[in-house]
Amino acid sequence: MSEATPGGVLVTGGAGFIGSALSRLSVSPNARWVAVDTLNPRIHESQERPPALHPSAELITGDIVDPATWDHVLADWSPDVVVHLAAETDTGLSLDHPVRFSTVNVDGTAQLMQALRRHNVTPRRIVVASSRAVYGEGVWRDAATGDERTRSQRTHSELLAGQWDFPGASPVAARAGLTPTNTSNVYATTKLAQEGLLSAWCSSHGVDLSILRLQNVYGPGQSLINPYTGILALFVRLAAEGKAIPVYEDGAMLRDFVHIDDVARAFATVISEDYAEHGTTMYDIGTGAPASVFEVAEAIASELGAPTPVVTGNFREGDVRHAWCEVADAFSRLEWSPQIDWRTGISAYVNWYLERNGAQR
Ligand SMILES: NC(=O)c1ccc[n+]([C@@H]2O[C@H](COP(=O)([O-])OP(=O)(O)OC[C@H]3O[C@@H](n4cnc5c(N)ncnc54)[C@H](O)[C@@H]3O)[C@@H](O)[C@H]2O)c1
Repeated sequence: MSEATPGGVLVTGGAGFIGSALSRLSVSPNARWVAVDTLNPRIHESQERPPALHPSAELITGDIVDPATWDHVLADWSPDVVVHLAAETDTGLSLDHPVRFSTVNVDGTAQLMQALRRHNVTPRRIVVASSRAVYGEGVWRDAATGDERTRSQRTHSELLAGQWDFPGASPVAARAGLTPTNTSNVYATTKLAQEGLLSAWCSSHGVDLSILRLQNVYGPGQSLINPYTGILALFVRLAAEGKAIPVYEDGAMLRDFVHIDDVARAFATVISEDYAEHGTTMYDIGTGAPASVFEVAEAIASELGAPTPVVTGNFREGDVRHAWCEVADAFSRLEWSPQIDWRTGISAYVNWYLERNGAQR
């Protein structure tokens, strides 16, 4: 058997939104940078190489669940770093397609681990894109006692009654390592399983693992054909059509919208050789400065001259009430901090959306 060429970066799901942005920051002339991606038609309309992927990135079209993909990718290559992004990503879909979600997200991760063993490849570091979803409703502080505890998913009857918050308590920002995980939907459970599988495998094989728990990522390059891509694309489309944006619950749900450029920089930082923390490290990647969904809808409507958003009182099972994170750990240990606040980023996103669709303000 010939020696595998060492070095470079392997990115599963590397042709997607985050992978393409990462390629533009981390492809270098000195080492291979390979995206392994199915080009899922729900995300990639044309099934062709996305123009956003750096021209020097290699693209191998293949399914991470299929061992043959790995046998092809790792036949003669031993990457220095593996960034694991490939996943089924939509929370709403995951309840109706649990097999697909667990096959791609859980079995796909296991296939990656098994293939590394089969090919005797031990990367220096693996990085996995996890999600804020692993916290579920997160921790709430009791106003009377000051006690903090996790809350379970809100029940159907609470939501029907318009009881959006947990009475007498206020939400606390998530903090990786301190906030307990508490998944409340299928997608979240598969993301937590990815963390657990990789933690076990990496610590047994002496591989450094970085888990990045991402808040709501948005920005240019986000799939506009995927109806599940997040609320911003939907909000911008409706406002661009001159419609009033409908906002669920009472509109006060907090979300932490973090710009794709900041997220790609966080990944580029952990894969760099300058980042020397060993073992398993875990960071929240957000802005730490959440906005209410109504505020965001209002900002988009005002950018596009659309009517004021309408609070509908509708709700979606499995949605959490509030989600945002602290970024102090990422700042002190990773020397990463978000640079783009949501108002600036969303205004630029609106411009990108209009340009892409040949529309005008
Ligand atoms: N975008 C966000 O707001 C967000 C938030 C939290 C976590 N994440 C996580 O970040 C990662 C990347 O997300 P993204 O926003 O770039 O999503 P994306 O859908 O744009 O990219 C995912 C890529 O994975 C590919 N893929 C899907 N199934 C595959 C398979 N079986 N084999 C090979 N490739 C496959 C898709 O074709 C796509 O190109 C995901 O793991 C997601 O769970 C994203």
